Amino acid sequence: MSRILITSAIPYINGIKHLGNLIGSQLPADLYARYMRARGNEVLFLCATDEHGTPAELAAAKAGMPVAEYCTQMHRTQSKLAAGFRLSFDHFGRSSSPQNHRLTQYFAGKLAENGFIEEVSEKQVYSNADGRFLPDRYIEGTCPNCGYDKARGDQCENCTKQLDPTDLIDPRSAISGSTELEVRETKHLYLRQSAMKDDLDAWIDSKTDWPVLTTSIAKKWLHDGDGLKDRGITRDLNWGIPVKKGDEDWPGMEGKVFYVWFDAPIEYIACAAEWAEAQGKEESDWWRWWRTDAGAEDVRYVQFMGKDNVPFHTLSFPATIMGSQEPWKLVDYIKSFNYLNYDGGQFSTSQGRGVFMDQALEIMPADYWRWWLLSNAPETSDSEFTWEKFQAGVNKDLADVLGNFVSRVTKFCRSKFGEEVPEGGAWGAHEKQVIFDLQNGLEAYQTHMDNIDVRKAAAALREMWVDGNAYLQEAAPWSTIKTDPQQAAMQIRLALNLIRVYAVISAPFIPDASVKLLEAMRTDATDWPDDMQTALEALEPGHGFVVPETLFAKVLDEQREEWAEKFSGIRT
Ligand code: MF3
Ligand code: ZN
Repeated sequence: MSRILITSAIPYINGIKHLGNLIGSQLPADLYARYMRARGNEVLFLCATDEHGTPAELAAAKAGMPVAEYCTQMHRTQSKLAAGFRLSFDHFGRSSSPQNHRLTQYFAGKLAENGFIEEVSEKQVYSNADGRFLPDRYIEGTCPNCGYDKARGDQCENCTKQLDPTDLIDPRSAISGSTELEVRETKHLYLRQSAMKDDLDAWIDSKTDWPVLTTSIAKKWLHDGDGLKDRGITRDLNWGIPVKKGDEDWPGMEGKVFYVWFDAPIEYIACAAEWAEAQGKEESDWWRWWRTDAGAEDVRYVQFMGKDNVPFHTLSFPATIMGSQEPWKLVDYIKSFNYLNYDGGQFSTSQGRGVFMDQALEIMPADYWRWWLLSNAPETSDSEFTWEKFQAGVNKDLADVLGNFVSRVTKFCRSKFGEEVPEGGAWGAHEKQVIFDLQNGLEAYQTHMDNIDVRKAAAALREMWVDGNAYLQEAAPWSTIKTDPQQAAMQIRLALNLIRVYAVISAPFIPDASVKLLEAMRTDATDWPDDMQTALEALEPGHGFVVPETLFAKVLDEQREEWAEKFSGIRT
């Protein structure tokens, strides 16, 4: 048994996430957490909402709410949706927690002490009317490139050109509309990542088992252009973690907060502290996950994220940890994902394009989405969601293969032998063969799950469902029973046992169906089937069961058409 710490990239607070976000980190992280628990490991699975930064302030303003209130409400919403998708977090925290305030300020203090923070004077736009410095995206004006009159100081949304606020024609404050802007001198803190470049480089080189997607992005940032740049870690915002050195004030940093990308990954640590507090545990209980001087040296730490998050997790956050020169745990394995596209374009939160988590659960139960998304995870390249693919995937795999097997076996048994496992003597050659195949299938499945090859794991699991169906088709107990009822009983005994095995091994993908199957089989024997032979004898002759209700209804053509239409536009 090992101890495994699992984190998913923490979703921004500014709205409900779409299915592309879900499959990019939280869902595969949950798959892995469930699998690792099922294999008997001790798992701590953490996620949280990422609550700071301009997107949070802007979303709150749009909702007409104070930002703290907006975050509390949206955290609750995201938490409910996570539960709806059966994401099995041990804790779903908040980057605005007191624990994260304390830790973020603590890390900043340590970094300063160790010489990894530089104070830099910069010229920045100050708005007299608003009485504050304006972050780049709080300045609006006309784009010098395309003439769009609502271009932001960081980028023009119309032509996507990256801008500096001083490029804008007729600049104004996005908060008040005031044009009374002036350039003033102000100080900001920079994390001296460049000073840690060689250490980071060597550390990445040591990770020979990481996915190429992860290491190639890290290497690019380390070596392209001028190499790794120092990173500004403070901002002029009201909402965020006040800049302090531990619990001391930081002269010249009054009114400033840490940059959201500085405090967000520290929330991975703070979340463990939040978890401990919520569980009535001690500091030592979360330190044993996070401090290598307090038990975490034998923890395996695995992170999940979309590819856009990789630079922060391979470079910036490790730089924070290394620079603290304290024994905090560094990540052991980073699983990153490409993008899932929606019907010929991109999922987009700002444009309301695609299917969002709340909408998805309104039209289909979680298992359908989990299965389709995971079995089509954008691992080696981007992948695409279309309603046709969704319909075809769930109908074939879930309804025709797994659902059909369960229904045929249980109904046949009920009508011929009653609702209990029949006897029927020892396995024959055909049964031994299928058990052998299933054993091999299981080993392949485990290998892929251990390696976090999500699509391959789904394919291996599907293969095992197919093996069961093929066995049933060939054994044909409905024919055998006419000439040899004993033989038919033995075949059905195997098939009923296989339903229990399917419930156990499929649970990481389709947890609700798994629960239903175990209930129908009237068992709580959920031990991992290390040995197929033994596992397929768990339900003994005479063991009662019931025929479950339809496990998976098919997606009908009418439904598919209705949804394609409904989700073709933009969410309002
Ligand atoms: N909120 C970011 C996103 O959704 C992810 C932050 S992950 C963390 O892309 F490292 F900052 F925690
Ligand atoms: Zn433009």
